[in-house]
Amino acid sequence: MKNPFRPTFGASPRVWVGRQAVLDEFARALNNGPGDPHRSVVISGSRGIGKTVLLTELEDEARRQGWIVVRASGREGMVEALTDSAIPEAVEAVNPGKERRITGVTIAGLGGVRSELTEPRAAPRLVTRLRELLAAIDTGVLITIDEVQDATPDDLTHIAVAYQDLVRDDAEIALSMAGLTQGVNKLLDLPGATFLRRARHYELGPLSLDDATSTLIDTAEGAGRAFELPAAQAAARITQGYPYLVQLVGYLAWEEARGPITLDAVEAVREEAILRLGTQVHQPSLRDVPPRQREYLEAMAHIQSQTGRETISVKDLAVALERPSTGLSDTRSKLIERDLIVSAGWGEVAFAQPYLGDFLRNQNKPRRIS
Ligand SMILES: Nc1ncnc2c1ncn2[C@@H]1O[C@H](COP(=O)(O)OP(=O)(O)OP(=O)(O)O)[C@@H](O)[C@H]1O
Ligand SMILES: [Mg+2]
Repeated sequence: MKNPFRPTFGASPRVWVGRQAVLDEFARALNNGPGDPHRSVVISGSRGIGKTVLLTELEDEARRQGWIVVRASGREGMVEALTDSAIPEAVEAVNPGKERRITGVTIAGLGGVRSELTEPRAAPRLVTRLRELLAAIDTGVLITIDEVQDATPDDLTHIAVAYQDLVRDDAEIALSMAGLTQGVNKLLDLPGATFLRRARHYELGPLSLDDATSTLIDTAEGAGRAFELPAAQAAARITQGYPYLVQLVGYLAWEEARGPITLDAVEAVREEAILRLGTQVHQPSLRDVPPRQREYLEAMAHIQSQTGRETISVKDLAVALERPSTGLSDTRSKLIERDLIVSAGWGEVAFAQPYLGDFLRNQNKPRRIS
C-alpha cells in the first residue's frame, strides 16, 4: 500500500484538519455577494504551519462555487505574471479560440479589422485584464498570492489599487494572500495597504493535539491501515501540532510498521523525524544567520536545556551573553523577523519551530566517530 502521508511543503495533505472555520467564513463571503469584507483574506504564520495548503483550500472552495482562480507568487513579479500570463490564460480557458476565430473572420474578408484586433496593445493594466476576465464569465475571480512577504511594495500597491477599483464597481472579485508573519505585518503597515488592513487576517498556529491525532488516524485508515490510538497520541505529542511534522512522523511511522501502526513504531522513528526536520527546515533557515544572532540562538538553546522550559527569559539571556538586555533587543527583533524566534509574553522568547533548540545543541556536540 502506498504511504498516504505527505511531508512535502505545499503538498495538500490527504486529511486536512483544524482550519475549517476559515474555509466556512470564506465560503459565506463568496456567497454573500460583492462588498463582503471577508472576500479579502490574509494568512500569516511560521514556516511549515500550513499557509500554502490553506490557500489551496480557499482556491478549491472558490472553484466549487464556479469561480475562476488566478494565482501569483510574491517571489516573482506578480503584477506582470498576473497581467501577462495568469489572467490572459484564464480568459483563453473560458473562451477558447476567441482570438483565432476573430482572425479567421478577418481572413474571410473584413480587411482592416484584423490588425486592430490582434496587434499587441501596450501592456494593459491589471485592472483592464481583470475586467476582461470578469466580462467573460458570470461568476467571479479569486486572486491568490503566496509568499507575499517577498512582494515588492510597488507590486502590492498595484494589486491593491486594481482590487479596490473592482470592489468599488461591485465586481465579483476576491483576494487571498499568504506569507510569513513578520513579512506580512510589514506589508500591512505600508501606506498603500489600507485595504489589506481591513481584510480578514488569520495568524495560523499549531494544530491542537486532538486534531493532530485525528489526522494521523484518519490518514492511515483512509489508506487501509490502523493507527492505534495510543500510538497516534504519542505521535501527536512529538509533533507539537506542527503540521509539517505531523506528515513527517506519520510518514516515517507508516514505513516503519508492517501492519497497524503501533506505539513501538512511533517511538522507533521519533529521532529520525527530528533529524529530518533539522535538515529540511532548521538547517536552511539558519544558513545566513550572522554570528551575533547565532550566539543569541545558542544561548537560548543552552538555557532551555538547563531550565527545561519552552520559553526563555530575556534576563537570563542577558546574563548568559554578558550584555545588557537593551543591547540585545536589536538582535532579538532581527531573529523574530527571520521567523526563528517569537516573543512569548512579557520578557520571554521562544523558538518559532519545534526542536530548533535541540538542533542547535546537537550541532555543537562533538561528533563521535566509531
Ligand atoms: N491542516 C493541516 N492538516 C494536516 N496537515 C497539514 C495541514 N496544513 C498543512 N499540512 C502539512 O504541513 C506541511 C506544510 O504545509 P504548507 O506547505 O502549507 O506550509 P507553509 O506554511 O506554506 O510553509 P512555508 O512557509 O515554508 O511555505 C505539508 O506537508 C502539509 O501537507
Ligand atoms: Mg508555503
